Amino acid sequence: MEIEDIKLRALEMIERAKTKEDFETIRIQFLGRKGELTSILRTLSEKSIEEKRIIGSKANELRKELEDLLSGKLSAYENLEEHEHKIDLSKPGKKIARGHIHPLSKIEEEIKKIFISMNFSVVEGPEAESEYYNFDALNIPADHPARDMWDTFWLNKKMNVHGKDTNVLMRTHTSPVQVRYMEHHVPPFQIIVPGRTFRYEATDASHEVNFHQIEGLMIGKDITFANLKYVIETFLKQLFPGKLEFRFRPSYFPFVEPGIEVDIKLKGKWMEVMGAGMVHRNVLIAAKYNPEEVQGFAFGFGMERLAMIKYGIPDIRLFYTSDARFTKQF
Ligand code: PHE
Repeated sequence: MEIEDIKLRALEMIERAKTKEDFETIRIQFLGRKGELTSILRTLSEKSIEEKRIIGSKANELRKELEDLLSGKLSAYENLEEHEHKIDLSKPGKKIARGHIHPLSKIEEEIKKIFISMNFSVVEGPEAESEYYNFDALNIPADHPARDMWDTFWLNKKMNVHGKDTNVLMRTHTSPVQVRYMEHHVPPFQIIVPGRTFRYEATDASHEVNFHQIEGLMIGKDITFANLKYVIETFLKQLFPGKLEFRFRPSYFPFVEPGIEVDIKLKGKWMEVMGAGMVHRNVLIAAKYNPEEVQGFAFGFGMERLAMIKYGIPDIRLFYTSDARFTKQF
C-alpha cells in the first residue's frame, strides 16, 4: 500500500538525518504543501466513501506520527546545539579547591625523612602514660625537684607496670618511650619517637597545653658524644638549608649526663630548640641494660617550635585554630 511505503521511507530517512536541514527536507518531502502525504490526502475526494474512510484515517495517523517524530528530533537537536554554544572554551577554568597539609604534618614528614636517611626507625608510645615511665624510670623519683620542670596533668586512673599499680598522667614529654623501647629491644639501634605531649601550663604565643615532640635515642657499644653532635648537626643542616648558626650549651636533665641544650641563631638572637645528652646510667639500668656494656645518647625537641622557625609562624596557638586561612598557606 502506498501509505505503508511512505511510512517506511520516511522513518528510514529520519533515522539517517544528521542536520537541521535534513529534517527540514524530510518535512517538505512528506508533509509539505506538495509533499507525498499531503498529495494523498488531496486526492481523497476522488475516492469512494469506503476508501476515504480507510486511507484518510491512515494518512492522518501517519502525518501525526511523522510530525511528532520530526519536532521531537528537531528540539533535541536544538537543545544540543544551544548547549554547545554555552561552553566557551576560551574562558579561564574554575580553580579546583585542594586540601592543604597542616604545617605540623608537613614538618613531621620532613623530619622523619631526614632521620630515616640516617638509618633511624620511627616508633611510637602511649599518650596516657604511667608515672613510672614518664618520671621514675627516667631518673626522676617522686621527691626529685626536677619534676617541677614538667607541670603535669594527672589522670584519675592506675596503670599496672611490672606488677605494680602506678599513677597515670598525660605524658609531659616523649622521653618515656626511651625506656619502653629499651625494655623490648637489644642494642644497637637508633629510633625517633614523634608524638603528642601535654603540659599543665598557661597558654601564650609560645606555650600550649598540648604540643608535639620528637624524641631521639641511639644505643650501642661505642656511641659517644661525637655521634650525638654529628646526628644533630646533620639534622639541623638538612632541616634549615643554607647558613645556619647553632651552638651546644651545657644544661641539665635528670635522664642524661652530660646534658646539653641546642640553640640556633635567629635574627641575631639565640633560641633554644632542643635538649639532649648521653643517656644517664640509671636510665640504662632501669631498662635492664648493663651501662658498662652499652651506652648512647638521647635528644628531644618540640615540633611546633621548629615549624614556627622554618615557616615563620609567630604564634603557637595558630596550629590549633582550624582556621583554613592558616592551613591554606602550606
Ligand atoms: N624530654 C626533655 C624535655 O621535654 C627533652 C630531652 C630529651 C632532653 C632527651 C634530653 C634528652 O624537655
